[in-house]
Amino acid sequence: MMTGEASASSQAQIEGANFLNLPVVDDEKSVREACREVAQSLGFNSSAADSPEHAYRLLDAQSIDVVLLDLKMPGAGGLDALRQIKQRRPDAVVIVVTGYGTVQSAVQAMQSGAYDYVTKPFSMEELRLLLERAANHLKLKTENRMLREKVKSKQGFGSIIGRAPEMERLYRIIAKAAHSTHPVLILGESGTGKELVARSIHFSGPFRDKPFIPVDCGSLVPTLIESELFGHVKGAFTGAAQSKDGLLAIAEGGTVFLDEVGELPVDLQAKLLRAIQEKEIRPVGSTKRITINVRILAATNRDLEQGVSQGTFRRDLYFRLNVLSLRIPALRERRQDIPLLIAHFLERLSRASGLERTLSDEGLKAMLAYDWPGNIRELENCLERACALTSGPVIQVGDLPSSIYSVRPGPSALGDTSSKITPIAELEKQTILGAIAQLNGDKLTAARLLGIGKTTLYRKLKDYTSQ
Ligand SMILES: Nc1ncnc2c1ncn2[C@@H]1O[C@H](COP(=O)(O)OP(=O)(O)OP(=O)(O)O)[C@@H](O)[C@H]1O
Ligand SMILES: [Mg+2]
Repeated sequence: MMTGEASASSQAQIEGANFLNLPVVDDEKSVREACREVAQSLGFNSSAADSPEHAYRLLDAQSIDVVLLDLKMPGAGGLDALRQIKQRRPDAVVIVVTGYGTVQSAVQAMQSGAYDYVTKPFSMEELRLLLERAANHLKLKTENRMLREKVKSKQGFGSIIGRAPEMERLYRIIAKAAHSTHPVLILGESGTGKELVARSIHFSGPFRDKPFIPVDCGSLVPTLIESELFGHVKGAFTGAAQSKDGLLAIAEGGTVFLDEVGELPVDLQAKLLRAIQEKEIRPVGSTKRITINVRILAATNRDLEQGVSQGTFRRDLYFRLNVLSLRIPALRERRQDIPLLIAHFLERLSRASGLERTLSDEGLKAMLAYDWPGNIRELENCLERACALTSGPVIQVGDLPSSIYSVRPGPSALGDTSSKITPIAELEKQTILGAIAQLNGDKLTAARLLGIGKTTLYRKLKDYTSQ
């Protein structure tokens, strides 16, 4: 039934296929066995059924991801089986096998929910391509579902808290940006909500069902970022045992969010610019170019213009990314939103723990007076910590980190002691290094407790070592 010389065992396995169950339903033993062999060689967990009834028994016994179904079977027939399968497992990807000259039945099958069809006789290569496509389809669907679950609470403007006029302005720009496909540069200090805004732009736009893929340009070594973004072919470098698709290709039709784009090494900036301009990428080690269709959002807490004038950031890429830019205000610039944010996080924390928590007046006063250098992330962490520490339903000022409530001497109290004053940058450095030392080098926990992002922490550490 199948044409083509290559033996099944010579096929490269499809990444992720070994988690997928694939029954082959065909009354003809030779076809059934051949298809099953191909599917297995590609890495699927393949089983076989010689009748629709047999297939239903499999369906009841295990999860089903892809089904290869012969349309022409005795009894109720394949079309009926297709409907039954889709009814029981709406998410299953069913590929129907039709006989030559029965295009009509293939059309009917597609209308009844088949993913695709293949006409007998088909080559192994045809079948392989189809299965590869089905596996990719499933992978994207799951990833997307996971992402959507993860960000459910973060979607839309509804999840961005703030009524300050600067925020209202921001919402209008987000709404506009969501319906365009141009790159957007999101600026703001650490913890101001850059990623949240990026997600809002994606999830309130027309391509919200396509992937949203964040890439942290600051936390990966340059060679890794290149292969993450552009992909690589097998053997492109030591350790590249399998070829891998780049995120710019995987996000097809969706968004890639380049977080901390200011950290991108200059040579990669050139490659990224070319990719955006030509809508093409070349995987590491490959000579072929792949067309991409992806929306770019980028964020940074660095001053990119300064980067441009210092030669660390390419001017042409800056202009490309900066078609539309929005700046998220620091929390200290919109203090009127502090009570709203406190209420929001307390409610969320109460819901999660089942324990109602409120903030004492003293606590609120201290939080309103504080400068929040780590912005909303710091405020969120501060409340999380306070909820964990407090013994009663009311968070007392003493449950807050001492940096928030400790009274610092005003300028008049300083007298002539300016030489004893430590610059803020130095205090910050001591605090960061001290925290890491206390936590035996655990940088992730240090970042969390300090109320800053891990990227920010890594960048600061890099700055300290290069000083
Ligand atoms: N306006 C807001 N309303 C509610 N939650 C917010 C808001 N802004 C930020 N957050 C929350 O604060 C935390 C930090 O936000 P986010 O990660 O988007 O900031 P960031 O600017 O990307 O920070 P960093 O520069 O440290 O990576 C997240 O948990 C986010 O949900
Ligand atoms: Mg971020």
